[in-house]
Formats: sequence, structure tokens, C-alpha cells
Amino acid sequence: MRSDVCVYAGSFDPITSGHLDIIERGAAIFPKMIVAILRNPSKKGAFSIEERLGMLRKSCAHVSNVTFDSFDGLLVDYMRKVDAGVILRGLRAVSDFESEFQMAQLNRQMNSDVETFFLMTSPKHAYLSSSAVREIASFGGDISEFVPAPIVAEVAIALRKEQ
Ligand code: PNS
Repeated sequence: MRSDVCVYAGSFDPITSGHLDIIERGAAIFPKMIVAILRNPSKKGAFSIEERLGMLRKSCAHVSNVTFDSFDGLLVDYMRKVDAGVILRGLRAVSDFESEFQMAQLNRQMNSDVETFFLMTSPKHAYLSSSAVREIASFGGDISEFVPAPIVAEVAIALRKEQ
């Protein structure tokens, strides 16, 4: 499988500034990156897959070597399908380590051709998550620091609860 192609998989519900930081830095290392949204039938997201793809595209318009896709099932099967050899993950705090370590080990056991490549999240994004963004936006908080500029208004309007 191609080690010059990485896959950055996740829920991206919605993409955060932390995700964008990893995409920009990963795209500067790997010649080709696929950002892939997990289609999870057991978890209804705040945004549809199409809306999430749209927000990813708008946020990453300046990153030329990135393409977007969605997948279901095992990530290692998707990696085979698109002939990509590297899973890209961002590590925020020490608390991420255990689950990320488990996922990387199991993925490599299921497919020994796949490596997981970790980037440390920039400190200002260390405590950021899509679920925190959803909560702040739902109460009308300012999310302009937390999601990419092109989608701030869209996320704020979509998630704000009727008062
Ligand atoms: O945005 P997230 O929740 O950090 O993304 C996690 C994701 C989508 C990368 C992970 O849940 C995943 O790969 N799911 C697909 C199913 C799979 O391969 N599971 C085995 C992991 S050991």
C-alpha cells in the first residue's frame, strides 16, 4: 500500500480548528491526504454526512493535496480500498493516548501494511472537540476561535437552540 497517501478519518461533526491544524500540517508532510468521514448508522450526528463534507471542503479550500470521502465499516478495509498506507491521527492530551494506542495496535494487527502516524495537536487546540463546539454553539457562545472561519456562521446558526 502507498506510504505517500494518508487517511485522516473521523466524525468531523463538525470540523474544528484542531482538525484543520492537523490537516494543514499533515498535508505538508504527505503528498496526498484523504479526509474520510465515518458513516456511523448507530450514531446520528448533529450534521448530515453531506453537510459535514461541505464544511470540510469550505474549510480546506486552501489545501490543494486533500480530497474528501466517507466510509463505513472498518478503517483498515477502507485503507485497502483506497490503497493508502498511513492513518493520520492528532493527539491532544495524555488522556487521548490510551484509546489511540489501542486503536493503532489493533489496526496494525488487522492489517500489518497500515501504519498510524501521530501529530501532536497545537497547544491552543489541546482541549477542543466537536462535542464541545456543539455545546458552546447550542447556548449561543462565540465559536469563532474553535471552528474554521468559513463555517463559523453556518455552525452557529444550525446549532443554536431556540431560546
Ligand atoms: O472522530 P473520531 O471519533 O476520533 O474518529 C474515530 C475513527 C472514525 C477514526 C474510528 O472510530 C474508526 O476508525 N472507526 C471505524 C471502525 C473501525 O475501524 N474500528 C476499529 C478501531 S480499533
